Order: sequence, then structure tokens, then C-alpha cells
Amino acid sequence: SIADLAPVKSDSLLALIDLANADKRPEKIDVGVGVYRDSSGATPILKVIKEAERRLLETQETKSYLGGRGDVRFAELLAPILLGEHSSDERIAGIQTPGGCGALTLGFHLIKAANPGARVLVGTPTWPNHAPIIRGCELEIVEYRHYDRASRQLCFDEMAETVKSARPGDVVLLHGCCHNPTGADLDAQQWAEITALIVGRGLLPVVDIAYQGFGDGLDPDAAGLRAILDACDTVIVAQSCDKNFGVYRDRVGSVWIKTASTSSTATAMGHILQISREMWSMPPDHAAAAIRIVLDDAKLSADWRVELDGMRGRIASLRQRLAAADPQFGYIAEQKGMFSMLPVTPEQVVRLRETHAIYMADSGRFNICGLSDEQVDRFASAVLEAIGG
Ligand code: LMR
Repeated sequence: SIADLAPVKSDSLLALIDLANADKRPEKIDVGVGVYRDSSGATPILKVIKEAERRLLETQETKSYLGGRGDVRFAELLAPILLGEHSSDERIAGIQTPGGCGALTLGFHLIKAANPGARVLVGTPTWPNHAPIIRGCELEIVEYRHYDRASRQLCFDEMAETVKSARPGDVVLLHGCCHNPTGADLDAQQWAEITALIVGRGLLPVVDIAYQGFGDGLDPDAAGLRAILDACDTVIVAQSCDKNFGVYRDRVGSVWIKTASTSSTATAMGHILQISREMWSMPPDHAAAAIRIVLDDAKLSADWRVELDGMRGRIASLRQRLAAADPQFGYIAEQKGMFSMLPVTPEQVVRLRETHAIYMADSGRFNICGLSDEQVDRFASAVLEAIGG
């Protein structure tokens, strides 16, 4: 019965949000959850989203249902930003989802329906919600090391070996850019090698891209995904707008399916729509409507790119500042996106929290742009003290 259920261990990232919010020490440094912060430590609503919301408030005349696909124009406008020239490929279709999480859930349920014996190759460490979503779809996980904490290097050979030994039909989960939690991305050559191995073994790539625009820019950050689309007949893409449009709590993303023919893509999309109908019936509208207004307006769309460039620039300069603070942080400048891992033990993470009011994930992952400008030096010296540097 419900009364007999064993307690669950709460998700550590969500628990960290509560812990950090409850801490009222003025010196608090919150580098926990992956949320962009500006130089003063705030997460303001993007100006273009505020403007789109103002227009929405003035012009929206109904809240009537849009249907299972959500805002169709939103997906149409997002397609070229995400897929580049592949957006005109009629074998690719996409719909709006509740965040990247909704997109991943639909993608893995589709895989379970199509190929129940498929195993999913997952590089570790990865976003802590990946494994629960995949297991929730009753798919088996095969883990390999994506990153070696000791050498602070990508374990590319291990990744390639694992992909080489996969069974045809197995799934390879790839982070499109700005790897969460390590910041260690594949370079162009490594994308090409992995893509060739995926094609050679007959594997299905699932590309999770939640930080497009936070690494090197919108197009460079999608280059790996587009190389996969160039080479593979069947691809699933789980995308999130939560970060690059700063609409976190409104939950908006998209799922994209490519198959070898337009008719099998349409059939796959029919399954996706049936699965989403069972899960949440229709995706929430608000932020997708605001993003549609931004992307449908040349001026707002250009302004969004400027705001996104600003966020990327701040992250890159913080990476440089940390790397310059001590040679032990040199690797941070080589990595991409919001996150890096520090060589700290879970006990050191707790001590940093208790003695310095620094909040980071148990894994040692920290959100670089969680640091306001004036917190960088204090953060660096507290971490160095903790690791005995
Ligand atoms: C993160 O990794 O911090 C974000 O993606 C938020 C989340 O849902 O875990």
C-alpha cells in the first residue's frame, strides 16, 4: 500500500536548490543548479522575452488548446537554428515539448516501442536525470567513462571502444554541446570518428542539446549534431530552450525525429504524439509562444542573438579568470558551457557548504556563471584551500 512505500532519496540537484535558498548567509555562493546568472548574480528575464510577453499579453485572445504538437510555428522557426540546412529535410519532424526532459522522455519511450531490447550507451558522469529517464522507459543502460576526473580529460578511446562493441540497434546518447556536468566536449575530429562508428555499427544516436549558444555560438555548438544528421538515417534530437531563452520554469523544448523516409517519420511522430497524450496531453504554451514571437520578428530575433552572445561571453571570461587564478584551474578554460567539475570529494563539497556557504553539486560539478564578478577570487581560494592547493 502507499503507507508501506520506502522513502526515496530526493534528487540531489533539486535538494540543492532548496538548501541554497534556505541559506541566508550574505556571503553565499550558489554554483549549484544550471541557471545563468549575470555579473551581479541575478537571473533576469531576457529583454526580448519580456517584450514578447508584453505583446502576448496585449494580443492573445484565447487560451484554448493548441493540440498535441503545441505551437507549430515555434517548431518551424526553431528548426533552422537547431538543424541548419537539415531543417529543409522532409524526413525530419519536430514538436514542442515540456523542456528537454519531456523531449528525452518521448524519445526513449519511442525507442522502447520500436526496439524493446535496445541498450543505451551512456558516458559517465552525465546529467543525473538521464539514467532515471532511460530506466523509466525500461531500457537497459551500458555505462562507459566519458571523462576522467584525475587527468581532467575526455576518455575518447573508451567511448570509441564502447561504441565499437555495441550491438546493432543499440542507442548512443550524446551531449550536443557544453557537456553536463564536465564541460568536456568532443572536437570536430572526434565527432567525425564517433559518427562513422555509429553508422558502421548500425546504432541509433540520441543527441541531447540543452545549451546551444553557450559554448562557441549557435552554429558551432550544433556542428556535432549536424554531422550526425549528415551521416545517419535515423536520429532523435532532444532540445531545450530553457537556458538559451532563459525561460527555465516555463519548461519549453522540442523533440525531433529523423528516419529514412518521410512516411516512417510521420508514423514515428504519430507514436510520439500518442505517448505525449498519455503523459501530459499537450505541452504548456507560454514560453513557446513568447519564443515564437521573438523568432518571428527580425529585430527581436537579432536582439536575442546579442543577449545570448552576452551570456556566452560572460561564461567564457569567467572560465579565463578561474584558469588565471591558479594553474590547477587551467583546464577550466579549455572546456565549454556552464559546467566544470572540481577535484573535490563529497566530504569537501559539504565542508565548502558549511564553512564558506558555497553550494555545488555532490559530484563537484559547479555552475561557472553562478559566480558574481566579486565572488570569483573568494571561490577560487576556498576551493584551493579545500583541495590543499
Ligand atoms: C542542471 O543540470 O542543473 C539543469 O539541467 C537543471 C536540471 O533540471 O537538472
